[in-house]
Amino acid sequence: MIGEKVAAVVLAAGRGTRMKNSCPKVLNEVVGVPMIVRLIATVAEIGIEKVVVIGSDENKDRLAAAVAPHDVTIQTQQRGTADAVMTARPLLEDWKGDVLVLYGDTPLITADTIRAMLEKKTNEKADIILLAFDKEEENRYGHIICSDAGVERIVEFKDASLAERQVKTCFSGLMCVSGDKIWKWLDKIGTNNAAGEYYLTDIVKIAKAEGAKISLFIGDEKEFLGINTMAELAYAEEVVQNFKRRQFMDNGVLLRAPNTVFFSTDTQIGKDVIIEPNVYFGKGVKIGDNVTIKAFSYIEGATIESGAVIGPFARLRPEAEIGENAHIGNFVEIKKSKVGKGSKVNHLTYIGDAEIGEKVNVGAGTITCNYDGFDKFHTEIGDGAFIGSNTSLVAPVKVGSGAMVGASSCITDDVPDNALAVARGTQKVKNGWAEKYREAKKKS
Ligand code: UD1
Ligand code: CA
Repeated sequence: MIGEKVAAVVLAAGRGTRMKNSCPKVLNEVVGVPMIVRLIATVAEIGIEKVVVIGSDENKDRLAAAVAPHDVTIQTQQRGTADAVMTARPLLEDWKGDVLVLYGDTPLITADTIRAMLEKKTNEKADIILLAFDKEEENRYGHIICSDAGVERIVEFKDASLAERQVKTCFSGLMCVSGDKIWKWLDKIGTNNAAGEYYLTDIVKIAKAEGAKISLFIGDEKEFLGINTMAELAYAEEVVQNFKRRQFMDNGVLLRAPNTVFFSTDTQIGKDVIIEPNVYFGKGVKIGDNVTIKAFSYIEGATIESGAVIGPFARLRPEAEIGENAHIGNFVEIKKSKVGKGSKVNHLTYIGDAEIGEKVNVGAGTITCNYDGFDKFHTEIGDGAFIGSNTSLVAPVKVGSGAMVGASSCITDDVPDNALAVARGTQKVKNGWAEKYREAKKKS
């Protein structure tokens, strides 16, 4: 694979002050995956195994947890992107191949683009290749200045003259530099610029002055969005969501209002699935064939088997396992529970820490009381059982197969197979009482 002779350095030490939240910038998620994790998965796709992540003292613990098993090297002071790459020097000084530099805040780049860029570098025997894109509107990216002799330098927005700001070719943040030259060039970068920082982008003019060959690879702007603000994060989310929607529709999933359905990167969906408007899929959802998800359902960490119907207004929480042809209806919440084949939990119900067998009918308003303020307890309902409406099942408790529970029962003890349990106040009837009461009220 082309990536085998390439080491990646991923910069992620910046404070991300423009995001104005407390999460390290590169750990903000796009479609359910932290941006830097997405980027590392992309480089892994092209066979790059050597990955050095540059973090800061401030974010190192959270970053290391997210990018494991890759190591995080610390840049003690955020003195610019060139200084950040220098932090990787002790680990890569003897690296014979190429060094691919990526910025942790550009998560939309695809493996195909990186692969094509690396191939171009090899074909053109370039010392440096820059991944760039053309953008008509004025913007704050670094601008790539070329002459008849090819690429000359990159000028940062802050340092650019008005004329330079009109240049359409922008630097994406991705470059690949031959490993035997990168360190000597980085050594020459100074801080004489508007930000007083060591700009990685200055490597271009330094290499050029030494007669290096510098190539450009022009890609699609959409892939190179650099995320510096919440608005840019939201835009990246939209781009990837649209891509996912399109991918599912191309595979035959019917989305009645695609723009209102939100997926996670790992969402899995089978054949002949219908998804109505306003549905949200958190992480870890697996859906079988012929499933219908009705409007306004919120689903995360759940497995839904073939033929099941979910919603409208259903909430499936992590470890909900919905069996074949089961029905989960409106205002029903299921957490860490199995609902067996053909069972129905259709209205206003909470099922937590439970195992429900096959062909069970759970009446409206049933609650598994699974928590005593300290611990969680388990409820079991056997095949074919019928739970009357408004039942409280106080766990730990077991309702046997084929058993029936009268409506409004508070079940605290196990119910044997095929038994009827009724646990509620007995009804009293006083004939004529209401009529007498009204008459007495009229007289007073
Ligand atoms: C940078 C480029 C710009 C390019 C743009 C693409 C420079 C000087 N400018 O600008 O030409 O068009 O990206 O998105 O490189 N970082 C560190 N340590 C530091 C500084 C930054 O690790 O000391 C990391 C940040 O966490 C971030 C990345 O480097 O992931 C880029 O830094 P950022 O400040 O976002 O650069 P831009 O201003 O976007
Ligand atoms: Ca940036």
